[in-house]
Amino acid sequence: MRVLVTGGAGFIGSHILEQLASAGVEAAALDDLSGGKRENVPEGVPLFEVDVRDASAVKTAFDEFRPTHVSHQAAQVSVSRSVREPEFDAEVNVLGLLNVIRCCGESEVERLLFASSGGAIYGDVLSPAKEDHPTQPLAPYGISKMVGEHYLRFAHAEHGLIAVALRYSNVYGPRQDPHGEAGVVAIFSQKMLSGEEVTIFGDGKYVRDYVHVGDVAAANVAALDAELEAGKHAFNIGTAVPTDVNQLAALVMTAATEATAEAGKPVEIPKPVHGDPRAGDLRSSIISSAKAKAELGWEPQHSIESGLAETVRWFLRRG
Ligand SMILES: NC(=O)c1ccc[n+]([C@@H]2O[C@H](COP(=O)([O-])OP(=O)(O)OC[C@H]3O[C@@H](n4cnc5c(N)ncnc54)[C@H](O)[C@@H]3O)[C@@H](O)[C@H]2O)c1
Repeated sequence: MRVLVTGGAGFIGSHILEQLASAGVEAAALDDLSGGKRENVPEGVPLFEVDVRDASAVKTAFDEFRPTHVSHQAAQVSVSRSVREPEFDAEVNVLGLLNVIRCCGESEVERLLFASSGGAIYGDVLSPAKEDHPTQPLAPYGISKMVGEHYLRFAHAEHGLIAVALRYSNVYGPRQDPHGEAGVVAIFSQKMLSGEEVTIFGDGKYVRDYVHVGDVAAANVAALDAELEAGKHAFNIGTAVPTDVNQLAALVMTAATEATAEAGKPVEIPKPVHGDPRAGDLRSSIISSAKAKAELGWEPQHSIESGLAETVRWFLRRG
């Protein structure tokens, strides 16, 4: 197996590369470094500095690396940017995917994984959504992910690829960008560790399903070589455990208090304050991964408490 991970210099992609490297699988990253960082790519893993919108550069990378499997993580990841610039979102998330699909079809690629999003495509869900839950993406980001999933069906029909959409819930963990609009765990961790006050939008009763990035990377590794019938598949990758933002803030505060005390640098962390609600935030988004357990043999290994403790310690070490 030779795996090309697009978006491999980003948060999730770099964890996939790390797990592939430790399993001894040959892999490479393709990333334009617009959001990712070169230092995220594990040592010894080649990086093709390529924009997925550039069809000929993508083709050159495929010709050079000759992957048998592709995990497509590269994307325009900002929901608010997708609302401001839907054309740009579609260029990266739809046309970029089409470039990747064409190159897969024209080379020896057998399997294509695609990073989709449970939260963005199902809309508000109160109890864990299964894969057959109606999809109702609201923002262009969710629409482009949904369109991408339809193109996976085309990728199978036209090129015979086994095409797998992995619909992640809210991913958190080491290396997440604490300066983005999402990534509430990274934002809270960074602020609390430096004794800054955090602001919770509205009443904080926004329920999410937080899944650790190590578990998401493991789901990709499992999906790369699970026995799957030819065709297009979709799997939810989450925990089905509901946590609202108020609970999350309390959990990060506990983890940060413990971590700083252990390190001999205790920090006084102010209580979170509540600000205005953020327009467009879903009230509840939780997904069931029973299908991934049955067909990929995957289930999350981190509880929210252990995952947060590890993540907060990582942010503390990073300084
Ligand atoms: N983080 C989450 O909670 C979450 C949830 C659901 C789905 N996803 C999806 O998972 C994937 C990875 O997200 P992430 O959280 O690691 O974000 P990230 O921003 O850390 O990673 C995305 C990577 O794609 C690269 N990239 C962006 N535009 C590119 C382009 N035009 N050409 C080549 N590379 C490009 C960036 O440089 C970055 O390294 C994305 O497809 C995202 O939509 C993430």
